[in-house]
Amino acid sequence: MRIDILTLFPQLFEQPFKTGIFQRAIDNGLVEVNIYNIRDYTHDKHNVADDYPYGGGAGMVLKPEPIFEAVEDIQKGLDVKEEKPAIILLTPQGRPFSQAIARELSDKKHLILICGHYEGVDERVHEHLATDEISIGDYVLSGGEPAAMVVVDAATRLIPGVLGSEESIKDDSHSNGLLEYPQYTRPAVFREWQVPDILLSGNHARIAKWRRSQSILRTLKRRPELLDKVDLNAEERQLTEQPTTATPETELEK
Ligand code: 6GU
Repeated sequence: MRIDILTLFPQLFEQPFKTGIFQRAIDNGLVEVNIYNIRDYTHDKHNVADDYPYGGGAGMVLKPEPIFEAVEDIQKGLDVKEEKPAIILLTPQGRPFSQAIARELSDKKHLILICGHYEGVDERVHEHLATDEISIGDYVLSGGEPAAMVVVDAATRLIPGVLGSEESIKDDSHSNGLLEYPQYTRPAVFREWQVPDILLSGNHARIAKWRRSQSILRTLKRRPELLDKVDLNAEERQLTEQPTTATPETELEK
């Protein structure tokens, strides 16, 4: 996957892609990341990328010209036979990011991410350049850069071969619509807190069932709205309907 990121703050991306899973994915040729400074596409001597909002009001607005020019510059170099890149504007007004959108993006060959800034981006970028707009949640960031990192992280780890073991994706929180079950590692007793016996039992069928129940109960307790979208069998459904009688000593009592 090729990922092009347009930003006013390219230095913010120096470290993240030199680390861990990204570095390995890049070294293995699975991911290519290019960072473009929007300021490099301005033509005035002070490289001004923003301006006052028409109609007045606080703050500055990112100008359309350098953003269009940067994207068009990238497009010029593309093979016409290749699938067109998704041009994603990171903005609090975008569609709410989710594991489903991460999956959708992980299938693409080429993403162009535009990091918004200041009070906003000229509306013509939204209307006539971006093919998609994504928000990472209902809160305000001072710029789209952390959001771009979130989107790139969530999408690239789903590209086959990027993670060491494909197993680890399957069990992730949200990958099956549920929160992940509790995980433990050694020691079996830490400060008198015991790892649940069942995990030491070696009975893989019972362990799988326990984990599935824990995922369901944890989701019920912390994110009940997620359960509406999950397929539960009759027994699992019952777990969510009579939680305290069916499952004493569970997440529910905590
Ligand atoms: Cl994508 N950008 C900004 N500036 N704030 C946000 C966001 C994006 N997603 C949530 N808040």
